[in-house]
This record gives sequence, structure tokens and C-alpha cells, in this order.
Amino acid sequence: GGAGDPNILVLPAHSRTLGKPVVTNPYGQPSQYEANLQRRESPGLTRVGAASVSFTPLQGLFGIITPSGLHFERHHQGWHDIDPTKHRFMINGLVKNPKVYTMDDLMRMPSVSRMHFIECGANTAMEWGNVAVPSVQYSHGMLSCSEFTGVPLSVLLEDCGVDKRRAKVVLAEGADGSSMTRTISLERALDDVIVAWAMNGEMLRPEHGYPLRLVVPGVQGVSWVKWLRRIEVGDQPYATKDESLHYIDALPDGTFRQYTSIQECKSVITTPSAGQRLLDTGYYNITGLAWSGRGKIKRVDVSVDGGRNWRTARLETPLLSKCLSRFNIDWDWNGAPAVLQSRAIDETGYVQPKINELRAVRGTRSIYHNNAIQSWQVAQSGEVSNVQVD
Ligand code: MTE
Repeated sequence: GGAGDPNILVLPAHSRTLGKPVVTNPYGQPSQYEANLQRRESPGLTRVGAASVSFTPLQGLFGIITPSGLHFERHHQGWHDIDPTKHRFMINGLVKNPKVYTMDDLMRMPSVSRMHFIECGANTAMEWGNVAVPSVQYSHGMLSCSEFTGVPLSVLLEDCGVDKRRAKVVLAEGADGSSMTRTISLERALDDVIVAWAMNGEMLRPEHGYPLRLVVPGVQGVSWVKWLRRIEVGDQPYATKDESLHYIDALPDGTFRQYTSIQECKSVITTPSAGQRLLDTGYYNITGLAWSGRGKIKRVDVSVDGGRNWRTARLETPLLSKCLSRFNIDWDWNGAPAVLQSRAIDETGYVQPKINELRAVRGTRSIYHNNAIQSWQVAQSGEVSNVQVD
């Protein structure tokens, strides 16, 4: 191709004229040609937008960082843009010196910056029983990955003189109207939890908890309390509404499992994925994301025949703990129908399960913690769709 192509032969306006000046957009925006790449709400999923979720368009992203404006949103009672000069953060309960911090107090303390994924425990929730959604945006888009900056919660707990003899847990509380409160073990709180004010190099966006949110690496999103206003140190789990009525796993025997907080090892192919269409036979780069709440990704295997044969994908660097990892693998499409799958293995040796293996243990009535292998079917026409095999 190319011979006689007017896009080459006719000099375009942008090669003949002066472009726009600097600071036309004091805060930069994506190209107008990328306007279709948006967070989207799944039609009919919830009745009220303030208690809903918008999904990250994973199919259109590269590398491992989610642009802040495309980070999925999950609010129980809407979001607010809170005046940071009026925001206060309190630590009380089993501590020697209960304290109230201003944002200025916090931001002069020793900070860390870490890259982590956040995944809602309800990601892939609609696929427990059968295929339900048309694209990776809706099947896996309650997932984002950012660099977060803040002060380690351990530093603040030491600052308040946490009573390590009696304390077993902390309770994190948000300042919105949802009474969002989550119990976190003291062991975890003293490990890698961050009281964060920044995401991807800028202050948190209001939708994600400005001016302060909890970052709980590897743990389901609900524990990442936004608009964080209080940590109470206690000696037993609090069993709040968001840990006794919601965010519990329905099991086949009719009981519910509580406090399953870690997001187990999971992966998904983002291109080609459902809703996309292959143009032609020949070479394609298959690419996707893998992550584990227990550490680093060790290996990702990819199958193009529904799980009969597997090849090991290339893992891009950096390969960080409790962070998204990007994989790529070459594929020569011969035009025949194919079923694409990825299977991740983390550094503990845990292998991402098939959907029917997961159902055998967990049943189909659960909402949360579906980390099954995802299958995308490529039809002879090149059309890619969501399927469940085996
Ligand atoms: N914190 C408060 N205060 N209120 C909320 O509604 N939603 C939780 C959690 N923290 C929520 C909250 C849930 S269920 C998830 S999955 C994550 O925030 C989503 O974070 P995000 O909106 O930044 O993606």
C-alpha cells in the first residue's frame, strides 16, 4: 500500500501552519481522537450513580500505569471534593497518645512512593454463573495501577504510641456519608499500608479520596478507604456492615466466608479481547496484565487453543510486588477460530484457576473474588467475544 496515498502526497495543514502555543491547556488533555477511551458505567448495573462503579478501559491502555483520569471509580455514597485545609485525620483507640493531624502535619513526615494495583473484590463478579458482559472493560475494569505517595501507617501508629500488647487490628473510616469502615490486621497495618495523598505524581483526584486515602497493597479495593478521616486501634475485628453484610463470599454449602481480603493471582488478555476485531490473518502481539495480592508475578502462560497447549509469555519490567505486570507474546493467526487464554503464576507458586475449578470450590452464588482464567473466542470473521470453556 501507500502508492498514491493522499496522506503522503498532499502536505497536511499541520505541516504548513503554526501550531497552538504552550499553555493552551494549562492542564493537558488527551487527543480529541482518543475521546472514545473513557471510564464507563455498566448499563443497568446499579440504580443510583452515586452508589455505582465506572470501569477502566483496559483494552485501550499500555504498560502498567492507569492514567488517573481513567482509574475506575467505586463509590457507595457519591464523591466529594474536600477542602484539604479543613480535612483532619485522627488516630485513637489503643494508643498512648491519640492524635489529630492536618494535611500539613502529614505531608512533612517521611514519605514513600510505591506502585500498586487496586482491584475491587467485585471485579469479574458478573461472570460467576455464565458469560454476562461484552468486553474486558466490564469483565476486568474494576482494576487500576498507580504510583501512590504518602506516609507509612506504621510511622503514624508509632507516633501515637500504639499499644502492641493489646492491639490486634485497626479500623479505617472515611469522611463520606457511606460510613465506610474496614478492619485491617495490626500486622498488615504495620507492614506496607500507606496513608496516601498523591497518585501518579499529583495530589489524589477527588474521585479517589482527595486529600487522603488508605493504600492497602494486595488487598481488595474496599479496604482502601477514601477521604480517610480516622484510624481506631482495637483488639478484635469490628464486623462492620461492609464486612458482615457486604464483601463476604457466598459458599456452596450456604455459609458465607468473611474477611477474605487478599486479591489472589489473576491475569487477563487485554488485546485481542472481546468487542475487538482482527483485521486479517498474520502476526498479532497478544498483550495483557497479570497481578497477585501475594507478591510478584513469576510467569504467565498463554494458550490460543482454549487451554490445550500453553506457551510462556514475555514479562515486561518492572516486575513489582502487588503491582500490575504487563505480558506480551507473538501470535501468527492462521484465520481459524481460536480461544485465547492467559494463566498467571505468582511467586508463591499459586496458579490462576480455570473457571470450573473455581466453581467446584466456591459455587456460583458468590459475587466476590473471581480470579478465574478468562477466555476470548476469535471467530473466523476476526470478531472477538467473551466465552467460557472447559
Ligand atoms: N472509601 C469510602 N470512603 N467510600 C467508598 O465508597 N469505596 C471502596 C473503596 N474506598 C469507598 C471507599 C471500594 S468498594 C473500592 S473498590 C475502592 O474504594 C475504589 O477506589 P477508587 O474509586 O479509587 O477506584
